[in-house]
Amino acid sequence: MHLHKYEKIWLLFGIGSLIVFLVVIGVGAFYKGTHPQSHMMTIDPENIEANEAFQPDNLGLTKVDDKQYIVNVAASAFNYDLGKNDDGSLVKKLSIPKGSTVLFQVTSKDVVHGFSLAGTNVNMMVEPGYISSYETILEEPGEYTLLCNEYCGTGHHLMGAIVEVTE
Ligand code: CUA
Repeated sequence: MHLHKYEKIWLLFGIGSLIVFLVVIGVGAFYKGTHPQSHMMTIDPENIEANEAFQPDNLGLTKVDDKQYIVNVAASAFNYDLGKNDDGSLVKKLSIPKGSTVLFQVTSKDVVHGFSLAGTNVNMMVEPGYISSYETILEEPGEYTLLCNEYCGTGHHLMGAIVEVTE
């Protein structure tokens, strides 16, 4: 069989494109530690306090080490429980120094919620019965809005908090 010169060029171009595509997909999927959201960690949504991370005293921001933090969050309609301030009021704002590694661990007590920190790569679906977790480094100082991006009922738009990344 005789192939015309242009046919060979286009054939090679096609095969080349396919290889580039597969490499981009294969590398891109895991680049910078990105991974498909796993739902391997389960929890009883009726009794989340059985899990140490979601006991009232452990909710919200915890410093683990220098520039190393954990944020445990119990989502429910229509609130993100980030623990309480010393005066008993609900925490609505977290302050984290820039460059910190932050592990977010979130679960839901009722329905499916979202957990999205606008302007960062934190964006999870939070399902009752599972713990959604994601570790990231917050580099850019500023105020970030935490919001629910899964419609969860009449108060969906009320779910929110602020994460401040300080200098
Ligand atoms: Cu919670 Cu929408």
